[in-house]
Amino acid sequence: MEDLLEIHGNDFDEAAAVLRGGGLVAFPTETVYGIGANALDGEAIGKVYAAKGRPSDNPLIVHIGRKEQLTLYATGISEKAMRLVDRFWPGPLTLVFKKRESIPAATSGGLDTVAVRMPSHPIALELIQKAGVPVAAPSANVSGRPSPTLGEHVIEDLSGRVDVIIDGGSARIGLESTVVDMTGEIPVVLRPGGVTVSMLEHVVGPVEVDPTVFENGEHLLPRAPGMKYKHYAPKGQMEIVLGDPDRVAAYIKEQLERRRMEGKRAGVIASAETANLYGDAVVLAVGSGARPEEVAANLFKVLRDMDGLQIEHIYSEGFSSEDLGLATMNRLMKAAGNRVVHV
Ligand code: TXA
Ligand code: MG
Repeated sequence: MEDLLEIHGNDFDEAAAVLRGGGLVAFPTETVYGIGANALDGEAIGKVYAAKGRPSDNPLIVHIGRKEQLTLYATGISEKAMRLVDRFWPGPLTLVFKKRESIPAATSGGLDTVAVRMPSHPIALELIQKAGVPVAAPSANVSGRPSPTLGEHVIEDLSGRVDVIIDGGSARIGLESTVVDMTGEIPVVLRPGGVTVSMLEHVVGPVEVDPTVFENGEHLLPRAPGMKYKHYAPKGQMEIVLGDPDRVAAYIKEQLERRRMEGKRAGVIASAETANLYGDAVVLAVGSGARPEEVAANLFKVLRDMDGLQIEHIYSEGFSSEDLGLATMNRLMKAAGNRVVHV
């Protein structure tokens, strides 16, 4: 691989040329950072899977720079889908359609469908438009680690594995896009994200939510292949503690004491309001419980920070799962491998 080029300015011609030439470019989006390759170039796509250490049956999202490009890659686009495109693109919404021949099997993970999104981040848009090719981009983390929301996270995971990293500061939303299957009559949310269920329903009427979004029972096979893998996980073992705040704090303090006796490093993920309940323990406040966007935006960074502090046991408070909270709690549950205690 060539020397890593890190770009902090706003001249993306060189990065666009790297994409056209079959190279890999990590870039910011409004959700999380992505690692991009020409979606039409099967060989380039192979490099993305290798760089991430990702199973090749897990399809990639095709990012486009203009709405009109959708019909080049997808077919069977319903009137409901057009309404969602008009309302939420560019933005954190990915739509799944029957794919056209133009999309190679490597990009769609061998499926006959393709996931398409038009991001709103100005750097992402400019890069994709300049590249002149659709850009397949999974989150720019090594497979299994929390998605990157800062340029430094990408550098941590992908230095030496990609040709270019564009640092655009912190990702505004902080959780990956909402993925919605549009191949049936009723849209199905496969992965919750920044465009919430109620926002979708406001535009197209009733939508379904894939049951694995709420609980990841081993018996349920998610329809978004990526949702079946252990994901978003910090290195430490994590448990979510639900219940009345005082009881939650009491239970967590007990566990912290137990881990201290065992000589283990333990830490707490708390809301800004409750962070002071844990004495001198390692406590990372993820945001105000009253500001769901703040909690969403900080979650992945907090998980990575726990790794940086070499925390072996992480106890997390629960957060509201209303609206954007559905996405936050979905990622938190995955990070915890679905370990939840009710106190
Ligand atoms: O916000 C995002 O979507 C970020 C940024 C970079 O755009 N990208 C991202 O990509 O999260 P990735 O590859 O980490 O997650 C894509 C998800 C996976 O769960 C994958 O299985 C699902 O979308 N997916 C992709 N194509 C699909 C398809 N044809 N049918 C069902 N699910 C699909
Ligand atoms: Mg990912």
